[in-house]
Amino acid sequence: MLTDKTVVLGISGGIAAYKAADIASKLTQAGARVEVIMTEAATRFITPLTLRSLTGRPVVTTMWELASEFSIEHVALAEAADIVVIAPATANIVAKIATGMADDMLTCTVLATKAPVVVAPAMNVNMWENPVTQDNLARLRARGFTIVDPTYGRLASGKIGLGRLAETETIIGTVKQVLGRNGDLAGKRIVVTAGGTQEPIDPVRHISNRSSGKMGYALAEAARDRGAMVSLITGPVSLPEPVGMEIVHVRTAAEMKAAVAKATAQADALVMAAAVADYRPKEVAPTKIKKDSAGLTLELVRTPDILAEVAGNFVRVGFAAESENVVANARQKLEKKQLDIIIANDITAVDSGFDVDTNRVIIIGREGEEEKLPLLTKREVADRILDRVVELLNRG
Ligand code: PMT
Repeated sequence: MLTDKTVVLGISGGIAAYKAADIASKLTQAGARVEVIMTEAATRFITPLTLRSLTGRPVVTTMWELASEFSIEHVALAEAADIVVIAPATANIVAKIATGMADDMLTCTVLATKAPVVVAPAMNVNMWENPVTQDNLARLRARGFTIVDPTYGRLASGKIGLGRLAETETIIGTVKQVLGRNGDLAGKRIVVTAGGTQEPIDPVRHISNRSSGKMGYALAEAARDRGAMVSLITGPVSLPEPVGMEIVHVRTAAEMKAAVAKATAQADALVMAAAVADYRPKEVAPTKIKKDSAGLTLELVRTPDILAEVAGNFVRVGFAAESENVVANARQKLEKKQLDIIIANDITAVDSGFDVDTNRVIIIGREGEEEKLPLLTKREVADRILDRVVELLNRG
């Protein structure tokens, strides 16, 4: 996903500098070429050797070591960068880049680059709240820098407050979003549903299914990384919330239906990866049902068919989770629900379908064409589905 991208990771000197090792490692694992620049203060908190080992690249710590094997022309990284990320960014580095200073390799690179810059501050809460810092950040925002706000929690000083470096996933999600903002879905509104719905029986119990949300979340992130404005409507799942999109949490099929209707009012495409419960208890017991009797009979009624009933003019993509006659059953759903594309999902294989990171699907279009994909990660499947959505959107 970050393959062929050069990410310049600037590390400044705060205690959160040790977390930059995780960021460097995950960026590298995602395929990026990670060029690390450390301020002199950062090297007091974490060694260049750590970053060098994680990225497999030389680490720049000074502009002046011209004779060293790491010597580099002072704007070379500024020019090579697809994106510059400063994490952690201290109050000091924020102030320096806001005022255009260039007295070390990191500030010099930021001043010289034409690439987008993402700044993830981490600092003492009083420094964060100081109007000078806030003014500096406002200046950076106004100039098009992307700021990943710090989070609330225990700080190195022992104080509780705002100032902790954002999570690695949040920073990397922001990097992907910024890099993808001119992608082939730029300007498009994509609504994605994910996870299973829960239909309550009583205040304690519900009917649900095994959907983890992984397929839907992969679709939402892939659409974001291709420039789309994404609304993710999700049933209860235990995945981290992706950044850079609107997220609507729902529980029941009825709630999902209302959220889908609202989100699709201006959508270009709806991708329903959610496993919506087909039945719900007719009555929801107001108090916990006692287990006095040997058995319990529930009367179930149908939930609304969201995909079939949602009104509007947008590309419609459904999934069909099937355990037999996969293609034939999927085709029937494509017709019945008047879809543009259906993703036939064989859920009998252990490496495909519910709650795994991979999937094996067949993409079936309205004209009957079938594209059988090999076993892929859900993210790869998501991109292949979005390729088809892009084709349909471009056709108009
Ligand atoms: O979440 P994961 O663990 O990653 O698993 C992924 C998945 C298996 C859940 C996903 O890939 C998948 O197949 N989702 C659709 C599951 C499903 O409910 O299929 P279905 O055949 O029952 O429904 C067909 C389509 O109609 C689906 O797009 C579904 O979202 C939609 N539907 C279904 C019922 C209903 N009441 N309203 C709907 O809109």
